[in-house]
Amino acid sequence: MVPKITSLSGYLHEYQRSIANPTGFWANIAETFFWRKKWDNILSWDFHKPKVEWFKGGKLNITENIFERHLFQRGEQTALIWEPNNPNEATRKYTYEELFLEVKSFANVLRNHAVKKGDRVAIYLPMVPELTIAMLACARIGAIHSVIFAGFSSNALAERIQDAEAKVLITSDGGFRGDKIINLKDTADEALAKCPTVDSNIVVKRTSQNIQWNNKIDFWWHDEMDKACEDAPSEVMDAEDPLFILYTSGSTGQPKGVLHTIGGYMIYTAYTFRNVFQYSSGDVYFCAADIGWITGHSYIVYGPLLEGATTVMFEGTPLYPTPSRYWEIINKHEVNQFYTSPTALRSLMSKGQEWIEKFNMPSLRVLGTVGEPINEEAWHWYHDHVGGNKCPIVDTWWQTETGGMMISPLAGVIPTKPAFATLPLPGIQPLIVDNEGDKLCGNSVEGNLCIKFPWPGIARTLWNNHDRYSDVYFGKYKGLFYTGDGVRRDEDGYYRILGRMDDVINVSGHRLGTAEIENAINEHPLVTESAVIGYKHEIKGKAIFAFVVCNHIPEGADDELKNSIGKGVSMMISAIARPDKILFVEGLPKTRSGKIMRRILRKIVENNGDYGDISTLLNPDIVEQIEIQYKDI
Ligand code: PRX
Repeated sequence: MVPKITSLSGYLHEYQRSIANPTGFWANIAETFFWRKKWDNILSWDFHKPKVEWFKGGKLNITENIFERHLFQRGEQTALIWEPNNPNEATRKYTYEELFLEVKSFANVLRNHAVKKGDRVAIYLPMVPELTIAMLACARIGAIHSVIFAGFSSNALAERIQDAEAKVLITSDGGFRGDKIINLKDTADEALAKCPTVDSNIVVKRTSQNIQWNNKIDFWWHDEMDKACEDAPSEVMDAEDPLFILYTSGSTGQPKGVLHTIGGYMIYTAYTFRNVFQYSSGDVYFCAADIGWITGHSYIVYGPLLEGATTVMFEGTPLYPTPSRYWEIINKHEVNQFYTSPTALRSLMSKGQEWIEKFNMPSLRVLGTVGEPINEEAWHWYHDHVGGNKCPIVDTWWQTETGGMMISPLAGVIPTKPAFATLPLPGIQPLIVDNEGDKLCGNSVEGNLCIKFPWPGIARTLWNNHDRYSDVYFGKYKGLFYTGDGVRRDEDGYYRILGRMDDVINVSGHRLGTAEIENAINEHPLVTESAVIGYKHEIKGKAIFAFVVCNHIPEGADDELKNSIGKGVSMMISAIARPDKILFVEGLPKTRSGKIMRRILRKIVENNGDYGDISTLLNPDIVEQIEIQYKDI
């Protein structure tokens, strides 16, 4: 197990050590894992190239570190508790030994479908145990998984499958979410029509609804498992071989396939999991995120299972069947650490006290939040009503690209402050720069958040696009990893994340690129162009506002047109990307070179008339026109 810091002085000491001698620090932690062969080199890096390699030459398999390493001690311990959408359906539990058997059998299913080391496997599943099993089975045989959130449309799914050239898709007949059934198989079928690289579509039976079946490529999960042998030797991998691709939105263009490699990601997720949550053997840990996003990858699956934890996976939503669902799960499984998003908290808070006041949750010791800035009101509600004033809150700042948490309190070790992610974790060297890239030293400063030294969990590249990786993360401030976030370091040296500085909108903790949404809007036959911005929203944190220019609006059909534009976005991307508000305008403010000035549109929506000098715009008059129209709605 990785070492655990248990006091503030311990943290300060470890932090200093990790900065003074980063390679020695991480090598000590790496030693606690099982390697088939030790590494040749701890770290080789250059943020200018950019290139990062940790533990190159080290040979291992991450599933041996989850299973074989733990079996003697905790074969019979529960590894995974699966809580279904409907509370009347039975919970499923897997011990380490049982989960291992499932993973090995499915590894053989993949091998039977000719999946080899380095092949890509796309996974489009709801939150069912088979999702975890499929990911680990890929890791067992050295295949690269690419999990695609089950809320994505067929178009978005196809785009991701095509980019990774996946050989196999794993999906289900459908999924339960609250009182809805999601038709995953239909969506997958539509996507597969555009994905010639996929030879097999393995289908988990979850809802038993009627589905189309194509004998050539569709295979039932249970039939394939019945045929598979239970013993599956693991593929020996290099620490720098890819573990997975996870697509995320950027400020421009198509989603980026963030790539993580095995060794560094393993060490980093395990270390941060144990230390931030102060996990102790026997604790039950519940992260309410979806495995379709990085939080679920790192802190439902890999981090907890690497540390021999009992991890809860929940299929449903916080509001179903009532807004007490999380609290019921916490009491039912005697959860010790609970991790969720500010959006979920705000939505539960808005439902009223009656849904939580009768719940005393004595098992809870640590509360966590992630994905977006948490406002002070939600922080206090979490602290007082969920945690009964006795549980520290870990506000964890990180990103898909960082692999694991970066700035966060260690629960009960680092004193917290509402809405502050507090201090960097050991090994993390943040740097704040102004817009010119000049370093801002000392405390009480605000600027762009960069990291100046590599940590083991950093993404190594973007799938098939190293140039874009170089450009997006290392191109803006030379020699530094740029996060895209704004940050303030206060008078005590504590970090408060201010949100995205680029054209990325964080809606309910989901990361969306303005360009992606605009492209989807612009597909509408009546639309000429559009500009999308985020605006403050009580529950979602940020909501989407779209300014749309049409070539023609049929008389009296405004609402109908807005509806069809919204539907188009849902179909092209996902319902989460559908604009909350649309305003039809005559034109968009642009620079003379044609760049849309979203900054001005943001100010209009914030009712902040301080636009700066707009006289140099291509069309300065449009600003006042939009302002008047906006005030009218
Ligand atoms: O803006 C930051 C915000 O979420 C972004 C990363 O999104 P994603 O890659 O989808 O990963 C989300 C889960 C790790 C960041 O650039 N963010 C994440 N955590 C916090 C946060 N903003 C404020 N406070 C946080 N704790």
